[in-house]
Amino acid sequence: MTPTFPDISISTERLVLRPFEEADIPELADMMNDELTVAWTSVPHPYTTLEARDWIARQAPAERLEGRGIVLAVTEHLTHRLVGIVHLMHTNWRALTTEVGYVIAPWARGEGYAAESVLALAQWLFGDQKFERLELRTAAGNTASQQVAQKIGCISEGILRNAVIVRSRTEDGGWTDIRSDLIVWGLLPEDLEEPGHPMGNPAR
Ligand SMILES: CC(C)(COP(=O)(O)OP(=O)(O)OC[C@H]1O[C@@H](n2cnc3c(N)ncnc32)[C@H](O)[C@@H]1OP(=O)(O)O)[C@@H](O)C(=O)NCCC(=O)NCCS
Repeated sequence: MTPTFPDISISTERLVLRPFEEADIPELADMMNDELTVAWTSVPHPYTTLEARDWIARQAPAERLEGRGIVLAVTEHLTHRLVGIVHLMHTNWRALTTEVGYVIAPWARGEGYAAESVLALAQWLFGDQKFERLELRTAAGNTASQQVAQKIGCISEGILRNAVIVRSRTEDGGWTDIRSDLIVWGLLPEDLEEPGHPMGNPAR
């Protein structure tokens, strides 16, 4: 039987990472229609409330139950508002490796929420689940996401040339697909122990 991640919630100083609930549908749909999210991820566009409902009711739970990873809603501890999503995917249970994807709602960006949530997930993954590698893949032009990778201590390991399709605005206000390079970032348990960790030895 394929192993699965447990059904968990993770609390950080400012955030709670928890499974999605039906009440998240409108905010999730808003977040997924944002310009940067459309540009840098492969979410369906336009992202309707029907997509959000199917993601929350069927696709997100299946990621965990079928052993591929886990999807967590990122919420503000104080206000309970949905600020983002973190998603572990392509989990390899033999190698104990997995990949993380994330989106933060436009109004909540620049507060360090992406770094805080991905770092907490990495600490749980390495500490509780005894994983050995977390991978992150960013399109070459996605500077904000690269900042997040660097902030949590990921090492840039190489470039996959021509490996991804991103979306760019056209003059008439539509979107067009463009091929782009992908930067591969890796985080290992020992990277969190480094004395010079950018977020100040979070593992201690
Ligand atoms: C990438 C994303 C999740 C970052 O969320 P966030 O909560 O704002 O991230 P953080 O606040 O933790 O860190 C963002 C960092 O990028 C920097 N940044 C933001 N936009 C930037 C830009 N256009 N150019 C350079 N740096 C930028 C911020 O200053 C911050 O760095 P700092 O803390 O050193 O100042 C968010 O922009 C997003 O949802 N983008 C669309 C979806 C996406 O790209 N997902 C990742 C796919 S790999």
